Amino acid sequence: MGKLVGFLEFVAGFLFVVLLAFAVPARDVRNEQPLPFNHKKHVEAGWECINCHPFADHQPFAGLPQAQECVECHESEMPKYPDNKAMREMTELLKKEYIAKGREIPWKVVHRVKDFVYFSHQRHVTLGKIDCTQCHVGVDKMTEPVTKSLFPLPKYPNMFAYNESVRKMYWCMGCHEQKNVTTDCNACHR
Ligand code: HEC
Ligand code: HEC
Ligand code: HEC
Ligand code: HEC
Ligand code: HEC
Repeated sequence: MGKLVGFLEFVAGFLFVVLLAFAVPARDVRNEQPLPFNHKKHVEAGWECINCHPFADHQPFAGLPQAQECVECHESEMPKYPDNKAMREMTELLKKEYIAKGREIPWKVVHRVKDFVYFSHQRHVTLGKIDCTQCHVGVDKMTEPVTKSLFPLPKYPNMFAYNESVRKMYWCMGCHEQKNVTTDCNACHR
């Protein structure tokens, strides 16, 4: 009898775990970034997105700043922020750990589309005149580094659109339809 109860408990526990796996929605993987970074503070200090992501208006990709860029700007700005100890300490750390050692900051790129999709920042930013934060929602308010995607994906547009890839495509398509831009498969899948 004891054995049977134990077995039933095991089965119930197993089913519970299986149910949980289905019930809990898949989360974005929290890939931690190598350094702290505060978008809000930098944006409030008057810097534009393009100051630090300088390729976005003329290349497919946007680019992420490297230690040299951080240090050059900090060194010219530090006199204006004599009390900002964190800024000074970060500048020293970047010089010692990255520039002196010839290392790149190993930022983990969070916003990506798969290789079979073509996306160009230049096309959307320069020709389409779409604001960065329309696609990267809320990044300008972040006080911590970006660790999960900020694309405003539609929740579940229909019963087939349950996975992240399909939701991403619905997001692109939704705006293209609204703005009378092509929704031809070959425009994005080339
Ligand atoms: C274009 C100029 C510029 C660039 C590039 C820049 N910063 Fe800054 N950073 C600033 C300014 C200005 C402040 C001070 C803001 C304030 O105190 O309001 C600051 C402050 C900081 C601080 C202190 C934050 C705090 O809580 O006070 C950290 C940390 C920092 N930056 C990290 C970085 C890193 C890492 C990079 C490169 C990946 C970088 N910054 C690139 C201008 C820049
Ligand atoms: C129409 C939507 C859209 C707009 C507008 C947009 N982005 Fe993006 N962004 C994306 C997509 C999609 C990706 C992933 C691209 C890939 O995988 O090639 C991305 C990736 C990025 C990345 C990480 C990879 C890289 O390209 O370096 C950064 C940084 C970035 N965007 C910054 C910006 C900035 C800054 C602006 C404004 C100047 C901007 N984005 C405007 C959709 C957008
Ligand atoms: C406006 C751009 C755009 C257009 C137009 C477009 N797609 Fe996509 N498609 C995407 C994006 C973005 C993804 C998601 C890639 C990712 O996961 O990073 C995707 C993903 C897919 C996938 C993979 C889905 C999965 O579950 O992995 C298929 C299949 C696909 N598209 C087929 C099509 C077909 C067929 C058409 C034409 C009817 C089409 N796409 C038109 C942007 C587009
Ligand atoms: C002073 C420099 C600076 C400014 C100004 C700045 N960024 Fe960034 N951005 C960074 C750094 C450094 C990172 C990498 C650390 C992180 O994830 O926060 C980053 C990361 C990002 C990412 C995540 C990239 C990815 O997919 O991994 C996006 C999207 C982005 N920035 C968009 C913007 C937008 C939009 C603006 C303007 C509102 C902006 N940034 C202004 C320095 C800056
Ligand atoms: C917020 C609106 C918006 C979103 C979201 C958006 N696009 Fe676009 N896209 C545009 C506009 C507007 C244009 C036309 C720009 C121009 O050339 O004037 C465009 C143009 C394009 C083109 C060039 C089309 C051609 O005629 O050859 C491609 C490819 C493309 N987008 C892919 C994507 C992909 C992939 C995504 C999703 C990852 C995406 N777009 C998300 C607005 C958007």
